[in-house]
Amino acid sequence: MYRSQKLSLRYYTAAVALFGVMIVFGLLSALYYLYPAMLYNVFDFHMSKIMHIDTLVIWLLMGFLGAVYWYLPKELGIEVEGMWLAELMFWIFCVAVAIVALVFVFVQYGSANEFSMWFINQGRKYVEAPRWAAIGIVVVMAVFAYNVIATCIKARKMTGIMWVLVLDLIPLLAVYLDAFPAVTNMSVDLYWWWWLVHMWVESTWEVLIGCVMALVLMDVMGTSRRIVETWLYIEVMLVLGAGILGLGHHYFWIGTPQYWLGIGGFFSALEPLPLLGMVVHAIYDAGTHRMKTTNQPAFFWITAEAFGNFIGAGIWGFMMTLPQINLFSHGTQWTVSHGHFAFYGAYVCGIIAVLYVAKQQTSGVDMLAGRAWKWGFGLLNFGMVGMVMGLLLAGMAQAFYGRAIGGSTLMAFTSASENAWFVSGMWARLFFGFVFAAGYVVLVYDLLTAPKRVPVTRARLEPA
Ligand code: HEM
Ligand code: HEM
Ligand SMILES: [Fe+2]
Repeated sequence: MYRSQKLSLRYYTAAVALFGVMIVFGLLSALYYLYPAMLYNVFDFHMSKIMHIDTLVIWLLMGFLGAVYWYLPKELGIEVEGMWLAELMFWIFCVAVAIVALVFVFVQYGSANEFSMWFINQGRKYVEAPRWAAIGIVVVMAVFAYNVIATCIKARKMTGIMWVLVLDLIPLLAVYLDAFPAVTNMSVDLYWWWWLVHMWVESTWEVLIGCVMALVLMDVMGTSRRIVETWLYIEVMLVLGAGILGLGHHYFWIGTPQYWLGIGGFFSALEPLPLLGMVVHAIYDAGTHRMKTTNQPAFFWITAEAFGNFIGAGIWGFMMTLPQINLFSHGTQWTVSHGHFAFYGAYVCGIIAVLYVAKQQTSGVDMLAGRAWKWGFGLLNFGMVGMVMGLLLAGMAQAFYGRAIGGSTLMAFTSASENAWFVSGMWARLFFGFVFAAGYVVLVYDLLTAPKRVPVTRARLEPA
């Protein structure tokens, strides 16, 4: 095994652990909706939610880093350049995450001054980490970019997938930098903040997961490089073609000029197209290989990724992306329904697939045997779909009673939050949240114990 693949295993371990922390804070956050006075002034809802969504971003990033460090030497045929720096960064990354988490849990607030921004909380949703840690993430990502690019140069070899990956790293880092300027005008601040959030999840991460999926498909199905690369180019072209101006769907109500209603509505309505392309691609590959695979769990999870990405991001996003509908659905649990489905479908499923790829190579177990992975797969998917449906119900009740009938007043918001449909949606989310958490436990159990439970067939393995 290459040294960078060992690093990748460390990133996977950290990612899976943070995935667990994320779920714990997700369940806690869900409880406040049913018991609003819970932990009042001790640990309020918004801190719990910050822990939930920040660990989400970090563990997915770690999963991506792990996947690239895993495939890079395989793709280029040599060890990754600058490994000692990459290893050092891993530890710095972990320590920084731990410190920030402790600050969020125990310090929580500061006064509205520079000190708080540098050391307590930067105050922007999803990227709340204080500025010193944000700079740390930039350094980690810069070293990662250096590892990838230097290895390509040293290997004197570029594949189509590597070109897409390298070119994606530039905007990936660049949009993160715009989380830095502190602007006092809230419209301007949100305007730039959306560049980061939207361009990450609907452009740069989407391209990154496209590259990872291309590599996994070649790995577990033996799909030919020509086919995966052709699809990758088409998908990337469509993702960027629709996704960049699709940014406008966040500019409807934040004080930006009115032309964004048309631009945002039109381009973001095209965003499901590349995601549909990915589904067609997955079905095409599965068909040409008659569903034959060397790694069934990974194959199932990539298929779930293709469908989850299309439905969760594409369909659930499309539902409320036209300004005429967004006027009613904006900022309700409807949005949260889409947020969960999209992040899960597009990224979580993909990363679980690469975990199983790594498991096959490190433990050599027969990936066609064993039942635990099926339980994990079933519970996680069932739990997520249940949560998404509960949230959709609650969100539609808010849109209907609070906005359409109630006229968006504070009173209407409050009474919509007491509406029976809304409340039952919140209970459903909690229940299915526990189902999801059970799925996580089974997943971890399977990843850790499979070598002991499942027969080992080294013959299936390729040489490392
Ligand atoms: C993997 C891809 C995607 C992910 C991870 C994702 C995730 C999210 C999240 C988390 C939010 C909530 C943001 C917040 O207010 O904190 C959001 C909002 C939104 N997303 Fe997506 N999304 C994706 C793709 C899409 C696509 C393809 C569309 C349209 C076709 C879309 C349409 C929207 C719209 C319109 C909103 C604003 C909702 C509102 O006004 O409250 N998203 N998305
Ligand atoms: C046990 C499972 C989970 C529970 C109970 C849970 C619960 C919650 C709650 C209560 C919120 C706050 C929503 C609000 O502000 O009204 C939230 C937000 C969020 N969660 Fe989860 N979550 C879970 C799993 C996940 C997973 C697996 C993902 C990603 C794949 C995820 C991604 C998000 C995102 C992106 C937001 C912000 C959404 C927004 O503000 O629009 N959660 N979650
Ligand atoms: Fe967006």
